[in-house]
Amino acid sequence: MDLSDIHHLLSERASAFLQRGTHDLFIDGQWSAAHSGQRLTTVNPASEAVIAQVANACPQDVDRAVRAAHRAFHEGPWGRMRPVDRERLMLRLADLIETHAQALAEVESLDNGKSAAIARAVDLNMAIDSLRYMAGWATKIDGLTREHNVPFAPDAQMFTYTRREPVGVVAAVVPWNFPLLMALWKIGPALAAGCTIVLKPAEQTPLTALMLAELVQEAGFPPGVVNVITGDGPGTGAPLVSHPLVNKVSFTGSTEVGKLIGHACMDNMTRVTLELGGKSPVIVLDDCDPATAAAGAANAIFFNHGQVCCAGSRLYVHKKMFDRVVADVADHAAKLTLGHGLDPGAQMGPLVSQEQMERVCGYIDIGRSQGAEVVTGGGRAGQRGYFVQPTVLTGVQPDHRVAREEIFGPVLVAMPYDDLDEVAARANDTPFGLGASIWSNNLSKVHRLIPKIQAGTVWVNCHSTLDPGMPFGGYKQSGFGRDLGRAALDSYLETKSVFIQL
Ligand code: NAI
Ligand code: MG
Repeated sequence: MDLSDIHHLLSERASAFLQRGTHDLFIDGQWSAAHSGQRLTTVNPASEAVIAQVANACPQDVDRAVRAAHRAFHEGPWGRMRPVDRERLMLRLADLIETHAQALAEVESLDNGKSAAIARAVDLNMAIDSLRYMAGWATKIDGLTREHNVPFAPDAQMFTYTRREPVGVVAAVVPWNFPLLMALWKIGPALAAGCTIVLKPAEQTPLTALMLAELVQEAGFPPGVVNVITGDGPGTGAPLVSHPLVNKVSFTGSTEVGKLIGHACMDNMTRVTLELGGKSPVIVLDDCDPATAAAGAANAIFFNHGQVCCAGSRLYVHKKMFDRVVADVADHAAKLTLGHGLDPGAQMGPLVSQEQMERVCGYIDIGRSQGAEVVTGGGRAGQRGYFVQPTVLTGVQPDHRVAREEIFGPVLVAMPYDDLDEVAARANDTPFGLGASIWSNNLSKVHRLIPKIQAGTVWVNCHSTLDPGMPFGGYKQSGFGRDLGRAALDSYLETKSVFIQL
């Protein structure tokens, strides 16, 4: 399917955006080409057809964007704006995103491969709600006052209080699995706190961030408050995160790149939030109804084609019903319809890129070579587009690479266990600690298990459930700090202690 074939399927705004073909950088409230004149190509992963060219920002462009954000923070009207006016701008942006949600979902679908209907229902709704949730915090950023306790001045009259102040210029580097949603997870708390932002979307999926920049313009944000620069990791992301005028970096992506960014931040003492990879366990206890567990497990791994940081990629089932649950999950997998994201009948789309497809198929082969048995799936689907069959592996040992490393595709590793302590230990036996789900109605067992699990989120009888008010982030090598909730807002604020001797 090529671009001319699909315009009739698109809403007006999506079609008009795509028909432009080439897209510039959004810096200081204006659109400009990259200094180098270079562009990157983005493709529709379902058809491999080119859908747009975007600017490839070089270090000069990064510098221009960061300086614009720095000026907007220190000199522009943004810093003097009342919190209630910041909130109003954020709510206006949320309304605009809602008005154009269908167009954004369609472009997300074409760029990423995911279903437009699911993008509308999940990515867009969550993005809008998260922005509105964070808008509410703008007027609720409080310091505290304290009776003084200065030990060496007991008789002094002292007024002591704390102020919360925005950290300054934020660099947000986001991945391709939920492009617009991840951008808003960073932009929301940054704006609520009063920061300014330079956003770099992933090179595979730059388009909805550019549409968002248009809406930022329409909402009436002062120039330089939100800047969007497109480009790849080494050429654009690396100079951005190490720029000396950046005060905070918020990153979502691979653990490998997260570590590089963490090192770069430490050199400048730049504040940093890292939301990284995972290998999240799905733990089915012996009282669970096998059909419920199987449906839950299938959804936990196959949602967004497994390209989810908290995907339930390791399934632990009590041995007494292991065969039954695995057969049911495999049945769910085999029945999933693969197709183009704009096809309402498609339940699963392609992976985001050829690189990701090869990486995921490579892991399936590694699994096989280490002795895993392929219950269903097992490789690429079709010859065009980056489709991978939903795959279930058994016969996997705890030290096999497919049981330890993040695959980030529709590949589930299923393993039996015997007792609660054993499964807790095995669930924790990876470098990651992002999420975990427990499937049971045995209150006592569930509560005994929750404190044992080393993960930033534990779900019971659900998986990957998110709420704008609930902090999300990782233990261990799944990251540093939290997105969402008040915890995210706090990470965009400094605390200043003030002592006034009267
Ligand atoms: P990545 O971590 O390289 O890319 C994420 C973002 O970081 C992109 O915007 C990229 O341009 C940027 N980036 C890359 N190198 C950078 C650098 N040196 N400095 C600054 N920014 C940089 O992820 P990639 O290579 O696309 O995917 C590889 C694996 O990472 C996946 O297979 C998956 O396992 C994991 N991943 C995890 C995600 C999550 O949500 N936690 C999201 C995307 C990937
Ligand atoms: Mg990479």
